[in-house]
Amino acid sequence: MELRVVDHPLVAHKLTALRDERTDSPTFRHLTEELVTLLAYEATREVRVTPHTVRTPIADCVGVKLAQPRPMVVPILRAGLGMLEGMTRLIPTAEVGFVGMVRDEATLEASTYAERLPEDLSGRQCYVLDPMLATGGTLAAAVKYLVDRGADHITCICLLAAPEGIARVEGLLNDLQVPCHLVTAAVDERLNEVGYIVPGLGDAGDRLYG
Ligand code: PRP
Repeated sequence: MELRVVDHPLVAHKLTALRDERTDSPTFRHLTEELVTLLAYEATREVRVTPHTVRTPIADCVGVKLAQPRPMVVPILRAGLGMLEGMTRLIPTAEVGFVGMVRDEATLEASTYAERLPEDLSGRQCYVLDPMLATGGTLAAAVKYLVDRGADHITCICLLAAPEGIARVEGLLNDLQVPCHLVTAAVDERLNEVGYIVPGLGDAGDRLYG
């Protein structure tokens, strides 16, 4: 898995505001959308395109358009839903599939409670949205899910990641035969004893929707 930490002052500025415990829910949602759009710009560097010729008022011009099949965007419910608008603003024609996963706060193991995805994802580029990569259980399970259905290129977009989670995802996915990227605004110090990212931003799901 290739890790890409987006180093940009606007990303750092918005992330700092998200971390601030005084940021209220409506502002948190708005900032999340904006931050995702900035991350998505980096995350879509490998999006597939095909040549496309248009006629300008002056002459023909060979450009590009998004290739078929369309990219698939997969927010992991619940918190990933807060990232969807920011992502589809950049790729409005993307198809959207949903996976609902929740982490047991005692065992820290992730389980799936909902799924609405095409059976066949052969040849699809998928963008997984989840604000937090903590222990990595949720993200690793989601990526495996998509690859098992045939996805052949995965990019995960997380607002924040913990080193422990990155290592676990890399370990769990090291035999993956498809390219996998992780794009994030920051890699924080560590996880605390209850599996929260330190310094982190708290519980993203609660701050978005609680
Ligand atoms: C949080 C977060 C990630 C997951 C990360 O979701 O949004 O999905 O935990 O933890 P992990 O890396 O240790 O697996 P949560 O399970 O709290 O559900 P929610 O999105 O419904 O709030």
